[in-house]
Amino acid sequence: MRRNDPAQYDERADQWWDPAGGFAMLHWLAASRAEHVPPAAGRDALLVDLACGGGLMAPHVARLGYRHVGVDIGRAGLEVARDHGVRVIRGSVLAVPLADGCADVVLAGEVLEHVADHAQLLRECARLLRPGGTLVVDAIAATRLADLVAVRIGERVPGGPPPGIHDPALFVDRAALVALAGRLGIELRLVGLRPSVRDLLARRRAPGRNVRMRPMRYTGVLFAGYGTKRAAVERRAVGSARTVGDMTEAGRLDSNAPVTGS
Ligand SMILES: C[S@@+](CC[C@H](N)C(=O)[O-])C[C@H]1O[C@@H](n2cnc3c(N)ncnc32)[C@H](O)[C@@H]1O
Repeated sequence: MRRNDPAQYDERADQWWDPAGGFAMLHWLAASRAEHVPPAAGRDALLVDLACGGGLMAPHVARLGYRHVGVDIGRAGLEVARDHGVRVIRGSVLAVPLADGCADVVLAGEVLEHVADHAQLLRECARLLRPGGTLVVDAIAATRLADLVAVRIGERVPGGPPPGIHDPALFVDRAALVALAGRLGIELRLVGLRPSVRDLLARRRAPGRNVRMRPMRYTGVLFAGYGTKRAAVERRAVGSARTVGDMTEAGRLDSNAPVTGS
């Protein structure tokens, strides 16, 4: 089985908005993500949703008052997102065709673990954000426990993630992520996320029911990162090959690695 095959998202495009389908947990995470996005300051405020998929953030972003631009490589998912009011751009999150500092908010939900070059994705987040802008990411941690929970067990559970959708080799080194974010001018605060047990039990009786994500201290399986871009960023950190090289030594944040997610 080829893991992390992006075609899987196109093949399942009809499931994006099915709260009982294979992407159910992404609905729960969208709601959780939205809790960390401040209301838009004005009518022109822009939220860039990197790897927007089928646009599950759309109702949340509309409620918060932002213009919603979504970037993804999956054509079928983008069509679904567009039908839900997202202005879509087809392209890689590693080279986003949008201007520096254009975004008041950047979201990178459940995509870090689908690309090999975590550093480049984070650099794109920082580049797109205006000073003072908000970054929200969530991803799967590079731990044995995450491999067990998300892949070995998760993919076997009925209603769990589609088999083969994750490649544990791409799971995220949290320390390296936080370190690089700091160099890019974003102090990233990590929290662990878990589904509410009570909601999961209730969902057994009503499969499409929403499940609230709960924060927890342990970040070693599913985690979120919240940060604000500082006004002044050291020049050395942005786009510096040396900085990226440092990160490569620290972990898997290699700017030259092939993009397996596209
Ligand atoms: C797990 S889904 C997350 C979708 C959305 N963020 C959400 O939470 O509902 C991963 C998404 O990443 C997209 N993706 C993977 N690699 C990508 C890349 N290099 N550039 C753009 N999108 C990519 C896939 O097409 C898919 O839509």
